[in-house]
Amino acid sequence: MKERMLITGSNPLEGEVRVSGGKNTAVAVIPAVLLSDEPCTIENLPDIEDVRALVDILRSLGAKVTYVPGEFMTIDPRPAEGFQIGYRDSQRLRASYYLLGALLGRCGHAEVYFPGGCEIGARPIDQHLKGFNALGVETETHGGKITAMAKELTGSDVFFDVVTVGGTINVMLAAAKAKGTTIIYNAAKEPHIVDLANFLNSMGAKVKGAGTDVIRIRGQQYLHGANYAVIPDQIETGTLMIAAAATRGDVVIHGCIPQHMEALTAKLLEMGVKVSDSDDAIRVRTLGAHRAVNIKTQVYPGFPTDLQQPMSALLTTARGTSIIQETIFEQRLKHLNEIARMGARVRIMDSMAIIEGVPQLYGAPVTCTDLRAGAALVVAGLMAKGVTEIYQPEYIDRGYEQIESKLRSLGADIRREVVE
Ligand code: EPZ
Repeated sequence: MKERMLITGSNPLEGEVRVSGGKNTAVAVIPAVLLSDEPCTIENLPDIEDVRALVDILRSLGAKVTYVPGEFMTIDPRPAEGFQIGYRDSQRLRASYYLLGALLGRCGHAEVYFPGGCEIGARPIDQHLKGFNALGVETETHGGKITAMAKELTGSDVFFDVVTVGGTINVMLAAAKAKGTTIIYNAAKEPHIVDLANFLNSMGAKVKGAGTDVIRIRGQQYLHGANYAVIPDQIETGTLMIAAAATRGDVVIHGCIPQHMEALTAKLLEMGVKVSDSDDAIRVRTLGAHRAVNIKTQVYPGFPTDLQQPMSALLTTARGTSIIQETIFEQRLKHLNEIARMGARVRIMDSMAIIEGVPQLYGAPVTCTDLRAGAALVVAGLMAKGVTEIYQPEYIDRGYEQIESKLRSLGADIRREVVE
């Protein structure tokens, strides 16, 4: 059933909202439970499509999963005998490939089709396979499927040629129960890497250095059960901050970690947006015009590529010319063609966008091409004069829990309807 989102823009967002648990941490922590020798309970999970897909995948492997959305998920991995993930399930999300590392750590055998996820570039997985091979894993890719097998996982040094979040997570998962110590060099440092390490350690794993570019994992034979709450979603927090600024509102975002938001906060302050924070809340207000700024996406703690798209929508009405350089993914600017339909003045050259600020955006029919492109279109719709119709909003549901009700609680005129 096809749907579209309808936004009547120009309402300033005002009030308080609570951010959900992190998508990119949840999709790593849930597969990690397969490494445990006892049941685990995970809390603060966002009730999003990617989480529901992983529930189905773990059940297909034989794990016993009790999931109460918004409350907890208890997973008993002990009955899980499976090691194959079907094509359709593999395609439902990008993070299905974490089942490679988790199943290798659990039973030394995994068969997973190449993952789905946002089409924002080639997104190869050569570094994941390089890491597995270093641990003594035989990998083969044939017929769109990755087959990974190891008689025995042995710890080793892994030096990533590029900083990769997924590669770092996959090697951490496989190394947690390998024989000996694995050292990952040039590791990703995102908050969800640290959160996964904390979860693994809560099960008795020995992971040190997460959050730096060298992570040491001393493999353990047995991992016990754990109760764990994942960290709040850094990207949802940032998207709500940007939406508050874009509508010239006054919003307090509760349950977030301000330290994770520093790169965005610095840019918003540079634009003239007022940002203040306490230990678990951030307040965003705008008094007056926004100045144009330049954005260059970087690995953490630099400006996150996942916030580049929503941020680009905000920059369309800033005073002056902004330049965006997307350095992480090759095709992550196409949402700007959609926002141009709303009156934005943009020029895209390879992985660079030049945005000339205009006084006002105007509502128009637009189409989501990926998750964060959808977030950008929502921000643009909230700030535009008139009605914006957003087609293919299901992309947004992959990474944002109840985004409409959160925005409506802040005064947005946003709803969804079925289209024939
Ligand atoms: C994760 O993707 C996130 N997804 C992405 O968020 C996020 O944009 C990205 O990290 C960067 O922070 C999840 O966590 C599920 P990478 P991932 O491996 O792991 C290249 C969202 O909107 N690379 O860090 O796929 C790759 O092509 C999503 O929530 C290789 O060349 O990102 C890219 O250019 C979108 N070989 C760069 O590294 C490899 O083996 C960074 O990719 C792996 C990656």
